Amino acid sequence: MNMSEIQTMEDTHGAKVYAKKPVAIIRGTGVLLYDTEGREYVDCAGGYGTCIVGHTHPKVVAAISDQAAKLISCHGSTYNDARANLFSKLLTITPTELDRFFLCNSGAEANECAIKIARKFTKRRKIVSFKGAFHGKTHGALSATWDAKYRKNFEPLLPDFTHISYGNAEAAKTEINSDTAAVLVEPIQGEGGIRPAPKDWLPLVADLTRDAGALLVADEIQSGFGRTGKMFACEHYGVKPDILCIGKGIASGLPLSITATDSEKMGSIQVGEHTTTFGGNPVVCAAAAATIDVLHDNRLVDNAAKVGRYFMDQLLSVQKQLRIVREVRGMGLMIGVEMRFDVYPILTEALSQGILMLDAGRNVLRFLPPLVLDESKVDRVVSGLRTIMEKEQLAKLPS
Ligand SMILES: Cc1ncc(COP(=O)(O)O)c(C=O)c1O
Repeated sequence: MNMSEIQTMEDTHGAKVYAKKPVAIIRGTGVLLYDTEGREYVDCAGGYGTCIVGHTHPKVVAAISDQAAKLISCHGSTYNDARANLFSKLLTITPTELDRFFLCNSGAEANECAIKIARKFTKRRKIVSFKGAFHGKTHGALSATWDAKYRKNFEPLLPDFTHISYGNAEAAKTEINSDTAAVLVEPIQGEGGIRPAPKDWLPLVADLTRDAGALLVADEIQSGFGRTGKMFACEHYGVKPDILCIGKGIASGLPLSITATDSEKMGSIQVGEHTTTFGGNPVVCAAAAATIDVLHDNRLVDNAAKVGRYFMDQLLSVQKQLRIVREVRGMGLMIGVEMRFDVYPILTEALSQGILMLDAGRNVLRFLPPLVLDESKVDRVVSGLRTIMEKEQLAKLPS
C-alpha cells in the first residue's frame, strides 16, 4: 500500500480518536523510523514512550518469534514458563518489597487494578490525585485523570475522587486523611507537560499518605523502566510506593502493563475478583523478559541519564538564544520544552526535518526517545529544531 491508500483506509474506517500526523511509518531500527517513501526520521516519540530498547532490537525480535513458534495463547488460569521467567526478571527491577505482580494490557488497566487493591485493602473509598494528572481513559483511571477535555463528555465518573494541586504541600496536608484509600501520583507528570514533582514535596506526600494509613500508588507508566535515568523515577526522591504501576516500554511496544505491590496488598484481591483474558500472554512475557535483559546488558538506564543530560544541555542552549522557548525541563530521556506558542506547527515542520516528536498539552514539546539514543542523534535533532524555531521566532516574535 502507498501512503495515500493507507491514509484513505485508516481515515475511512478507523475511529477518529487520534490526532494523526501526515506520515505512514512502516519500518524501524534503533532510534530510526522509515515511511512509505523511505524517508528517515529520528524517533523522539518512541511510540509514545513504548520503544525503550530501540525499534526491532534483535534480541527482542528473536524472543518474540521463538515464543510465537512455541505457544501464543495461554490464559492465566494455567501455568506458563514464559510468564514465570518474566516474574523472575521483574524481581531484578522492582523495589524489593514489591514482589507480587498483576499482568494486564494497558496503563489505564494497571491503574484500575491499583485503585481496586487500595479500596479493598484499606476498606476506604477516597482516591486523591492531582491537577494535571494523566492516568488513562477507562472510567476508573479517567476519574483520576485531570483534564476536562478527556472527562467532560463521560460524566458521571466514579465518586470519591479528589484532585489537588501538584506540588502544593498545604493541599496535600488537608486532603490526605483518614478517609483516603490511595494517593495516585506521577513522580513526573508526563501528559501534563513534563513536570517533575518538587524535590521535597513527593517525600512529604509519601509521609502524609503513610501517616493516614492510605496507600501510595506511583503511576510510573510513562516515567518508569529507565526512562528518567533511574529504573523508576521515585528513586530520584527516595520514595517507596506501596503500589507501582508500570506500562509502555516494558515489553518493547507489545501490550503489557503491570501492577506491582507486596504480598499482603496483592493478597487482598481474591480469585476471580480482578482478571483479564490476555494478561500475562506468553509472547508479551517473552518480549518483556528480553527487554529487561537488553536494558541490563546495555546499561540503558545509565545511557538515559547521560544522553538525557546532554540533550537537556543542548536544548537549554537553544533556550538561551531563542525567546520563543519558555522553559526546558525533565529527567533523563523524558524531556519537555515549553514554548510561548502552540507547538502544533513545530511538530508538523519537524517531520520535514526528519524528526518525530510529541506534544504534551498545547504549548509543550515532548521527547520520549528510545533509551539507545546517542549524542550524534541528539545533535541532529537539536540542529533541526533550532532551524524550525528560528523561523517560528521570526514569524511570531519579530524584534
Ligand atoms: C502516567 C500515565 N498513566 C497512564 C497512562 C495510560 O496508559 P494507556 O494509554 O496504556 O492506557 C499513560 C499514557 O500515556 C500515562 O502516561
